[in-house]
Amino acid sequence: MQQAEQWEAACDAADFNGEEMLECRVGEREILLVRAGDRIVACPTMCPHMEERLAYGFTDGMVLTCSKHLWQWDLTTGDPMGPAEKRLAVAPVRIENGRIFVNTAPLACGDDLPCATDG
Ligand code: FES
Repeated sequence: MQQAEQWEAACDAADFNGEEMLECRVGEREILLVRAGDRIVACPTMCPHMEERLAYGFTDGMVLTCSKHLWQWDLTTGDPMGPAEKRLAVAPVRIENGRIFVNTAPLACGDDLPCATDG
């Protein structure tokens, strides 16, 4: 199922300069920006396991790891890896005029909308 795109402004690109991860607000939602190689992706701030802040975790640019029980996710797809039992919603990010924009449609998973890519 193809999801509609919903691009919303987040923080200034300069705020994310040199950072691996940064929490910021997009509308009513807190999101986590994560550097994924030469791209940036967005995901929820809280781990889908037991609500640990994912910003306390770590990333190698391809995999995001939660610090609490070491669940891991592929930053390209959000697919769980290793012991992780739930996928992580991952959303595309683009930069325009020095501002970071997030397509928040994929982040609606777990809110009041079903996740189109949940298996
Ligand atoms: S709270 Fe994140 S892996 Fe358990």
